[in-house]
Amino acid sequence: MITISDDNSPGRQRRAGAFFGRRKANPLKYSQTVLFEKLLPRLKLDLDEPAPENLQELFNCSANRIILEIGFGGGEHLVQRCGEQSETGFIGCEPFINGMGKALSAIDKHQVANIRLFDEDATRLLDWLPTDSLDIIYLLYPDPWPKKRHWKRRFVNTDNLDRFARVLKSGGEFRFATDIAHYVNWTLDHVHRNNAFVWQAQNDKDRTTPWTGWKSTRYEKKAIREGRDPVYLTFVHCNTKEG
Ligand SMILES: C[S@@+](CC[C@H](N)C(=O)[O-])C[C@H]1O[C@@H](n2cnc3c(N)ncnc32)[C@H](O)[C@@H]1O
Repeated sequence: MITISDDNSPGRQRRAGAFFGRRKANPLKYSQTVLFEKLLPRLKLDLDEPAPENLQELFNCSANRIILEIGFGGGEHLVQRCGEQSETGFIGCEPFINGMGKALSAIDKHQVANIRLFDEDATRLLDWLPTDSLDIIYLLYPDPWPKKRHWKRRFVNTDNLDRFARVLKSGGEFRFATDIAHYVNWTLDHVHRNNAFVWQAQNDKDRTTPWTGWKSTRYEKKAIREGRDPVYLTFVHCNTKEG
């Protein structure tokens, strides 16, 4: 009998900047429960051990760049990027068990070798990662938390932008996509107040043009079906750590 922990304990929920979403929706397929038992433990980062100074050590490939995707959902974008960029090490973070199950199936099917996973709150992972270690952070269609009393749950906040600034290399990028106009303005405003990033947009077209090699995610497809327009924001990390 395979059991998957879906710990929703209040302690987990209350951590500052923590995960507020649901851990599980439908029952997993049997093949996915097997992957949780056999594959996830091989790929999951062990945060009880200190992070290696050089994240390349986490990967079997040469991993000359390291990319993190936070809240990857079913992993559509993440797994496609892994296949296209075999010399890049990818770290995917997703606490939603059904999303992780879907991603594990795709990783197994395509025999993805350049990936490591974390199935808990991304703020824990960010605090574990070494300073100046990432080339790109993707945050794609994060939960919008539309009610005002829930805005404080949004992943883009002052503390998490400080976390991004610490772990991104100078010149590294924070890439953000959403279909919610209020979250666009919220993010621009928060990043503007954090002096570690420069918004890379020359004109309005840049906001509506996805990054090269873009693979639409499940939430993006749903947004388009429902008539909302995707917005893509790229923020370049400029090194303010010395000064
Ligand atoms: C709206 S869904 C978008 C999923 C996917 N990126 C897409 O575009 O289809 C947001 C995802 O972020 C994940 N998430 C929310 N808070 C998180 C956190 N603190 N750490 C990691 N993932 C988180 C949720 O579990 C959920 O799967």
